[in-house]
Amino acid sequence: DWVMDNFIDNTVKELREKIGDKHVILGLSGGVDSSVAAGLLSRAVGKQLTCVFVDQGLMRKDEGDFVEKTFTELFDMNFVRVNCGEHFMECLKGVTDPEQKRKIIGTEFYKVFWDEVRARAAEGFFAQGTIYPDRIESGKGKSDGKAQTAVIKTHHNMVEKPKDISFIDTIEPLGDLFKDEVRAVGEKLGIPHELVWRQPFPGPGLGVRIIGEVTAEKVRILQDADWVLRDEMSKNGYESNLAQFFCVLPGVNSVGVMGDHRTYDNVVVIRAVTTDDFMTADWARIPYDILAKVSNRITNECAHINRVVYDITSKPPGTVEWE
Ligand code: XMP
Repeated sequence: DWVMDNFIDNTVKELREKIGDKHVILGLSGGVDSSVAAGLLSRAVGKQLTCVFVDQGLMRKDEGDFVEKTFTELFDMNFVRVNCGEHFMECLKGVTDPEQKRKIIGTEFYKVFWDEVRARAAEGFFAQGTIYPDRIESGKGKSDGKAQTAVIKTHHNMVEKPKDISFIDTIEPLGDLFKDEVRAVGEKLGIPHELVWRQPFPGPGLGVRIIGEVTAEKVRILQDADWVLRDEMSKNGYESNLAQFFCVLPGVNSVGVMGDHRTYDNVVVIRAVTTDDFMTADWARIPYDILAKVSNRITNECAHINRVVYDITSKPPGTVEWE
């Protein structure tokens, strides 16, 4: 415990010395690492910090609002939220190939992000939530699980700076920490539990959990179902047993019955896994009564869903995500 207190005190001191009276800009995704980096920098330099949060409209239900609320109400900083959901829907119109979707979402994301940064970059520092394993991964020729996954699916998580933008220096306040240490620091800084213990969430977001073309309506349908799943898992205290769980919209309609009406509406898939490293994974044995409750609630509470199925495929041969 005192180790983390010491880390925070020392890092805050070093950050203040390094930054002086200059500005710092940080890309905030709402993931664990960038959130903790934001908390540390906020404690060190307050309003000299600007966090840029690009909301591409493909996050889970209410997630963007939660991130905004957290960093505007609990921390001292300039918080810039760029809402570009509609732009992303435009870019994704008619696109069905998973790799094409990833590419478009990644490219557009950084276009929006760097445009926002460019407008504020003068005479400042650039901060990143890089942690120790990220540095090993990029330094030693990609030997760990995440990087190997990237061979199968391109992950667009690397921030590559356009040449026309320059900073005094790059700051990586978490560069020597492992994930569990980052979480411990986050808890100490008062970052909400939901962010500190957030499950991995793919950069392309719900874009790769909607099979086929992504539309605003499909995003809403999926967000509603996924919200029910998360709510029920947390009410049953089952959340922390699993590495990752979420809903997928496979783009398949099925016939159902409601009262004396025939329905023809969306199937939703529940995907839940246990794993240590995400290279291999097993489908989670969620108790039947929790699954029953989730299924009941999704079909009752969410519009345009008449069937819920459970994915019982391990990795390999399945991947965690469906795309
Ligand atoms: P797969 O589906 O490859 O997922 O078994 C392994 C882990 O990686 C996450 N994942 C991604 N993360 N961008 C990301 O940042 C991506 O394009 C991406 N695809 C998969 C996935 O959620 C799981 O944790």
